[in-house]
Amino acid sequence: MTPKIVCRNVYKCFGPNSAEAIRMARDGQSQSEILKQTKSVLALNDISLEIGAGETFVIMGLSGSGKSTLIRHFNRLVDPTTGQVIVDDTDITTMDRKELRTFRRHKISMVFQNFGLLPHRTVLKNVGYGLLMQGRTRKEQDEAAAHWISRVGLSGYEHHYPAQLSGGMKQRVGLARALASDSEILLMDEAFSALDPLIRTEMQEQLIELQAQLNKTIVFITHDPDEAMLLGNHIAILRDGTVQQIGTPNDILENSVNDYVRKFVQNVNLNRLREARPASIPA
Ligand SMILES: Nc1ncnc2c1ncn2[C@@H]1O[C@H](COP(=O)(O)OP(=O)(O)OP(=O)(O)O)[C@@H](O)[C@H]1O
Ligand SMILES: [Mg+2]
Repeated sequence: MTPKIVCRNVYKCFGPNSAEAIRMARDGQSQSEILKQTKSVLALNDISLEIGAGETFVIMGLSGSGKSTLIRHFNRLVDPTTGQVIVDDTDITTMDRKELRTFRRHKISMVFQNFGLLPHRTVLKNVGYGLLMQGRTRKEQDEAAAHWISRVGLSGYEHHYPAQLSGGMKQRVGLARALASDSEILLMDEAFSALDPLIRTEMQEQLIELQAQLNKTIVFITHDPDEAMLLGNHIAILRDGTVQQIGTPNDILENSVNDYVRKFVQNVNLNRLREARPASIPA
């Protein structure tokens, strides 16, 4: 596996006293104890992981476990307090503003839970927006946008505005926009969580189908174990800012390292999973 994204000993502290918070964490103190004594939230506690090129890597954990904080390190919406975040052999924490801008425009794109669409632009212009930022011609923008709009099943809606779309349609626009910019890495933070179950299943299937052709590196956050197992090549389970386990869906199911992990996966719908991924989940 060629690593695309690597985290080395990443700590992220929000609050006034990060040095003391990290010292306490290294000393084995709990997140709540650290908060009490330092008034600081240690959102990530010594995260080291590798995400392979072309895989779908899922981050799962309860609310507040640090999922969004972690994924936001990969495009530097958040900077680590200490530690390294390496993408394609470059430590992105050392990039200057110009390098960072180029990196964000070309290498990485993000799909947000609440869509993040531009309300005064049409579907076509929303989907083409990344290409506009890349300095591509208007013709290139519109052609690529039309292509991806059709791929996500929204043909005919090119000239509609976001307010005229349902939640599921908006999410498709967000996905099409991320795909149109043709970046190698796709960050998806609870991208499907706002959708109702039927649409969500459809979107999951669509993502699997697209990924089979595109081979992007996808980092996908969810708190839904079924979704994690269905989409992930590897899954990392977070608790209070620490990694509990990283493994394939089968590893996580068969060799859960502790009760927290076991609780997550105990109600997974194995029948659907075996049907969808017969190779990775043996009967
Ligand atoms: N900008 C910030 N300032 C202060 N604290 C923050 C900030 N962002 C996150 N935190 C804290 O860091 C911890 C982790 O938050 P994070 O948003 O990463 O959790 P999450 O796993 O994504 O949760 P959810 O499932 O609810 O989205 C929380 O305790 C949160 O309060
Ligand atoms: Mg979150």
